[in-house]
Amino acid sequence: MTVESASSLADELAAVWSQHDLDALTSDAAQYLSAGTATDWGISYRMQSATPLISLGSGIPDPDTLPRRELLEAMQRALDVPDDGPLRYGGGVGFDPLRDELARRYTRDRGVPVTAEHFTLTNGSAGAIDLACAAFLSPGDVVISEAPTFSGSLRTFRGHQAEVHSVGMDHEGMFTDELEALMQRLVAQGKRVKFIYTISNFHNPMGAAMSLRRRQHLLRIAARHGALILDDDAYGEIYFGEVAPTALSALSGGMGVITAGTFSKMIATGLRVGWVHAHPDIIERCTRMRFEMGNSPLLHRMLFEYMKDGELDRHTERMRALYEQKLDVLTSALHEHCEPYLTFKKPAGGFFLWCALRDGLTADALQAAGLDEGVSFPVGHAFFPSREDPSGHHIRLAFSWASIDDLREGARRLGRACEAAAQQLEAAS
Ligand SMILES: Cc1ncc(COP(=O)(O)O)c(C=O)c1O
Repeated sequence: MTVESASSLADELAAVWSQHDLDALTSDAAQYLSAGTATDWGISYRMQSATPLISLGSGIPDPDTLPRRELLEAMQRALDVPDDGPLRYGGGVGFDPLRDELARRYTRDRGVPVTAEHFTLTNGSAGAIDLACAAFLSPGDVVISEAPTFSGSLRTFRGHQAEVHSVGMDHEGMFTDELEALMQRLVAQGKRVKFIYTISNFHNPMGAAMSLRRRQHLLRIAARHGALILDDDAYGEIYFGEVAPTALSALSGGMGVITAGTFSKMIATGLRVGWVHAHPDIIERCTRMRFEMGNSPLLHRMLFEYMKDGELDRHTERMRALYEQKLDVLTSALHEHCEPYLTFKKPAGGFFLWCALRDGLTADALQAAGLDEGVSFPVGHAFFPSREDPSGHHIRLAFSWASIDDLREGARRLGRACEAAAQQLEAAS
């Protein structure tokens, strides 16, 4: 047999592969997710506005205060060691001193003593949620979420072929009476509820912090039914009052709550470092399901260097003050420019303001008018598992990323968009 040329083999193989159907190889989970769902965040990508767009859609940290110099110095210290530790495989659970440091902070801030064994480091909190799903969900298991909720996590649950049910919420968090009734119905149907997914602190998109009474009720319901609470705590450290809300994990007595944490919102989303915090028996189940040889030991060491002398505490304190100021600027400007079209309740932390639209105005119409005026934001119904908002029409405004000037100008543009959408409504009636 003669050795054929590389290009003729490639042509032959391409022709053969064009006869095969990739869907026949695609996993059940990836088929279930279907194409196009990866990027649907409720934000319209129409960009042909006359003026450069101001984005009130990005729930990410302020770009001008990212601690570049401090992280660079921390990276230098992390690498400036005699051994090859930072540049070598680090193991599945993550760099121990960083887990120790997290345990020290949780013990200090939440008043319940925990150790490194209560943590495993992941690829952001999205990675933490994915890992918890890998450890506890089988196809067909039920996850109950709040409605509205973070659509990224809904994708994760669906990617693990879970059946997602939801309960409503208000500014005190999840309606726990509704949860109890739903749990009873599901159990009566023979379903297995594995997770109750909540964003208990400064919810995305609603900004709500769950009241203590509902936290206690939620813990009791979950324990009675043997379902785990998956508490997505991406925003818990960004509180504007004197103290953080009492953590579900701290109230739980140690079992029953899996907390997903992250450095994304406190420092930067590009780090991709987060963690699962839970009872060591739960962490052990998670560790069984890690197949990617751990995350970056280099970044873990950099973060440890950054945290160990209190730099994270100082940064977080500055960021809390900045985000509170940004929220004040946005809400004052909305009062000035958008009344009577929008109403809202000011959140006590986080990145998001959830705005209800006056009767008749729709989120889609306002989003389109906003793009004409040069301001973008997601529609509220994109955050509902059903993609329908039973509580009226809402939009979500993020105040973390835009500059103070852009928040003022964005509200001015939104005011003009409200008027334009209202005029269209009148003309149509
Ligand atoms: C509620 C919530 N959970 C998780 C994430 C994902 O964050 P991470 O960057 O830590 O994966 C986000 C990001 O916007 C979020 O809003």
